[in-house]
Parts: sequence; C-alpha cells; structure tokens
Amino acid sequence: MEVGGSVTGVNGGVVAFPDEASLEAFANEFACNLRAPMVIWLEGDLGAGKTTFARGLIHALGYKGRVKSPTYGLLEQYQTASLQVLHMDLYRISDPEELEFLGITDLMDEGTVLLVEWPDRGGQWLPDADFVFRFVYAHEGRDLHWSARTRRAKAMDYSAFNT
Ligand SMILES: Nc1ncnc2c1ncn2[C@@H]1O[C@H](COP(=O)(O)OP(=O)(O)O)[C@@H](O)[C@H]1O
Ligand SMILES: [Mg+2]
Repeated sequence: MEVGGSVTGVNGGVVAFPDEASLEAFANEFACNLRAPMVIWLEGDLGAGKTTFARGLIHALGYKGRVKSPTYGLLEQYQTASLQVLHMDLYRISDPEELEFLGITDLMDEGTVLLVEWPDRGGQWLPDADFVFRFVYAHEGRDLHWSARTRRAKAMDYSAFNT
C-alpha cells in the first residue's frame, strides 16, 4: 500500500495476528521503536482490537497501572518515565467540537504519544495522524492494515511489522 508522496522503503502493509497474544507482542515491539511526538489513529469495528493494542503499548512504554477503555470519558492520560500517552476513544462523542473544549492540542507536546480510537468522529479538531492503524476481523484473529503518513512515521524502525 502506497500512501502520500512516498519517501523511502515501505509506507504501509498488513500484519496478521492470529490471537491476542500476538497483537500484544507487536504492541511491545512497536513501543520499543516509538519516538514521541507521535499521533496514531486506531480504526476498526467494535471489538477489532484497538483498545487491546493501546493497552499493550501503554504498558510496554512503562505504565504499571490499569489501562481502561476511555469510551465514557473520551480521554485517559498516562505518564511514564519518559513520555505522556493520551488515549482517546471518540465512539460516543456527540459533536467534534467537544474536542476543542478538551483542549487536546494544548495537551500535546514534544513528549506526547496520542492514540485515538474512532478518529473519523473527531473532525477537524484532531491532530493529523503519523500512523493510521486499521484493525480488521480475520477468521478467529485480526489483521492490521497500517500506513505511515508522515516523514517521522516513515523514519521509524519497522522491524515490529515484519512478524
Ligand atoms: N488478534 C486477536 N485475535 C483474536 N481476538 C483478539 C485479538 N486481539 C484482540 N482480541 C480480542 O478481541 C477483543 C478486542 O477488544 P478491544 O480491543 O476492546 O476492541 P476495540 O477497542 O477495537 O473495540 C478482546 O476481547 C480481545 O481479547
Ligand atoms: Mg476500544
């Protein structure tokens, strides 16, 4: 899959996860290569694995506590030793302008990783994605269709995607 004005190498692809453990392992390895700031949009139907990935990533980045789905509060904030993770779920947002009141762009800084479930409901108030991850049901497991949209994303070490 080619996205945007291509730079070097691979800009996207598909990774298969036969079970939850393989998706968690991917989140772990992706976390190792991740550099803030980074905006990751998480697309896919209910139950497709968006929160599973976010939870795995947040734990892999060093957060020790419970990571719950932000479906009702829209936003959960996590502080690790080296960075901040903002985890959003816009499934229940009634108006994209709610994002303006949350002040999401003010919360972002150079040390922030932003994860957004249901980004299509955020309209113009959402920062553009470095990565778009779309989770799709595949038999008993899930496929991840990923694309790197920015130079920053394309510069990342892609070893996590080659499983
Ligand atoms: N690769 C996978 N294969 C099979 N089941 C998975 C896989 N990844 C996650 N699951 C299961 O699917 C569900 C995903 O839920 P969740 O991550 O909350 O979805 P979403 O946030 O996309 O609505 C969980 O019950 C999880 O155990
Ligand atoms: Mg979810």
